[in-house]
Amino acid sequence: MRAVVYNGQGIEVRKDVEVRDPRPTEVKVKIGAAGLCHSDLSVIERVIEYPAPAVLGHEGAGVVEAVGAAVTEVKPGDHVVLTTLANCGRCSACARGIPTQCRASLGRISKAFTVGDTPAYNFAGTSVFAESTVVQAVQAIKIPDDIPFTAACLIGCGVLTGVGAALNRANIKPGQTVAVFGIGGIGLNVIQGARIAGAGRIIAVDLLAGKEALARRFGATDFISDGDGEVPPVDWSFECVGHPAVVRRAVDALDWGGTCVVLGVPPPGAEVSIPINHLAYVDRGIIGCRYGSARPHHDVPLMIDLYRRGELLLDELVSRTYPLEDVELAIADLKSGALARGVLQP
Ligand SMILES: NC(=O)c1ccc[n+]([C@@H]2O[C@H](COP(=O)([O-])OP(=O)(O)OC[C@H]3O[C@@H](n4cnc5c(N)ncnc54)[C@H](O)[C@@H]3O)[C@@H](O)[C@H]2O)c1
Ligand SMILES: [Zn+2]
Ligand SMILES: [Zn+2]
Repeated sequence: MRAVVYNGQGIEVRKDVEVRDPRPTEVKVKIGAAGLCHSDLSVIERVIEYPAPAVLGHEGAGVVEAVGAAVTEVKPGDHVVLTTLANCGRCSACARGIPTQCRASLGRISKAFTVGDTPAYNFAGTSVFAESTVVQAVQAIKIPDDIPFTAACLIGCGVLTGVGAALNRANIKPGQTVAVFGIGGIGLNVIQGARIAGAGRIIAVDLLAGKEALARRFGATDFISDGDGEVPPVDWSFECVGHPAVVRRAVDALDWGGTCVVLGVPPPGAEVSIPINHLAYVDRGIIGCRYGSARPHHDVPLMIDLYRRGELLLDELVSRTYPLEDVELAIADLKSGALARGVLQP
């Protein structure tokens, strides 16, 4: 089958990729659509260190093709959104309903694929830039058949991460003020999450002036494109870029009592300097957020419900679709800032 393979230097679209049959607790899924997240680009640019060869892509939806002997949650023919969390379901974090803190859900990579004769890694537990993939059954969440895959796939990372950051990790009260730094797939979803939470002023910040219309469409009330422009004090700021200077700017923007939520992923070892008294004197804080602190089996159905009610914009996130072969073009478009999300259709 065809798949986008990271080879340690760059990517290739290979036709000689195979995925093994599902083991007892796994499912095989035929991919209907897959969103291109900046984290895939970060692997290619080695901002995120990852072993090669690996099949990229981690924001996908499709149809269950086959299930392992122990799987009861889904059956062949079911439409599913894939999540990156292969959480164990038994540990303390899982028992407390925080699967993003389950130790089994991070860094447990497998070699489910072969490229030619070489075993190849999966990425983020999913690998959806392929005609088919194999994941743990807990990662495949059934959705109604009439939700288009191009919209559904985005739930798998950008929506759960961005909307989840606003609804799960932050505790935005109606009328509170929010600033969102970086208006890509993640930032747009933080904006719509803040809108759904009832935020008052939502200030979008991006270097590209061209992001303004999109930001306002998703719920921003203000837009600042000046790299040094002053952002008025806010209750919540969200860093959706992955750059230390932007983290600093997001912390500087906090009102008394405000909290900065850090979502962007910079290169390993990146640090930021913050005056301690800026925090300690008046209750400001900084928190990290993995995958929107998502509980996928609760949050995916919630996102579908919000989408059906017209509150969650998904189709509007899809700037353009591409055949798998055009992944390089999709990456160029992402880098140029032309996309909310680009979606590959294997
Ligand atoms: N925490 C998580 O679980 C999680 C999940 C997914 C993605 N991410 C990370 O979130 C970040 C954003 O991902 P994305 O897919 O939205 O990326 P994207 O490329 O779609 O968007 C990034 C946006 O940031 C803007 N930007 C760049 N430099 C800026 C600056 N100095 N000031 C303001 N804006 C700036 C760009 O113009 C672009 O609009 C990445 O670092 C990605 O790895 C984290
Ligand atoms: Zn992602
Ligand atoms: Zn667990």
